[in-house]
Amino acid sequence: MELLVLVSLCLLTFTGKAFGDKPDSTPITSKEGQNVILPCSFSTTLTNKIIDWKKDGKDVLLYENGRVDPSSQDEQFKDRVSHFPDKVKSGNASITIKQAKVSDSGSYTCLYLNENGREEERQQIELTVGAYAKPVVTSPSITGDWALLRCEVLDASPKPTVVWYDSEGNNVSDIEPKVSGEGGHYNIILETKVTKTDNYTCVATQKELHHQSNKTTSVSIRELKDTTEEKQTGES
Ligand SMILES: *[C@@H]1O[C@H](CO)[C@@H](O)[C@H](O)[C@H]1NC(C)=O
Ligand SMILES: *[C@@H]1O[C@H](CO)[C@@H](O)[C@H](O)[C@H]1NC(C)=O
Ligand SMILES: *[C@@H]1O[C@H](CO)[C@@H](O)[C@H](O)[C@H]1NC(C)=O
Ligand SMILES: *[C@@H]1O[C@H](CO)[C@@H](O)[C@H](O)[C@H]1NC(C)=O
Repeated sequence: MELLVLVSLCLLTFTGKAFGDKPDSTPITSKEGQNVILPCSFSTTLTNKIIDWKKDGKDVLLYENGRVDPSSQDEQFKDRVSHFPDKVKSGNASITIKQAKVSDSGSYTCLYLNENGREEERQQIELTVGAYAKPVVTSPSITGDWALLRCEVLDASPKPTVVWYDSEGNNVSDIEPKVSGEGGHYNIILETKVTKTDNYTCVATQKELHHQSNKTTSVSIRELKDTTEEKQTGES
């Protein structure tokens, strides 16, 4: 009997924890440089409550009765975060981050405290700030009976997958891309050797941003002469 109670207690704690770890809303995505609203609403009025936004233990915004307390705010968010004072009454604690940066990406917590300073309820909001991948294809260099395709995707975030496809949609990448970058931005260079005349498309995909962009180049390999016609299409 005792064991049974213990087991169900454990289960309760466990499910409670797993639930608490999940984000409460669909992840928010934004392009770098844009203003982004992080939504947070509770089904109670927040007048006279302290509302606290945090990210990775850092203070994003703390306000009470519409008054912002800047004393503990992290440097990263200074002068960049605002709330909606006229919405507090109806339980809406959403904030705006001005000119979102890639480094703003991550998990945010929005919570409110009751009059005794005790936490009442919290929500978790995931934010991904991205820099769109834009493939640049350089003129293929032809050597004898093969051509070297080169696709560069610079300054993208989050990290895109980059693949060369032939006109039938076959993945013709034969080596891993070279990846470099810093501060959450990535530079990807993908070179691929091809041996047949065709139109080849470099496709860069960022799943998290639901973003895809491509560039096509046409390669013509002749048996005796080294010539190439080059043409680029696709999204720029
Ligand atoms: C809260 O206010 C913001 C800003 O006006 C708005 O975008 C958002 O939709 C509101 N949320 C709810 C649940 O009403
Ligand atoms: C394309 O092929 C390369 C090399 O075999 C492989 O590393 C890569 O994962 C493939 N990509 C996709 C999207 O199939
Ligand atoms: C490549 O695309 C062009 C049109 O953009 C088309 O005229 C040509 O036939 C294509 N070449 C091959 C080998 O598919
Ligand atoms: C390239 O992008 C265009 C739109 O910009 C799209 O219509 C086409 O299907 C894409 N091609 C590939 C191979 O992804």
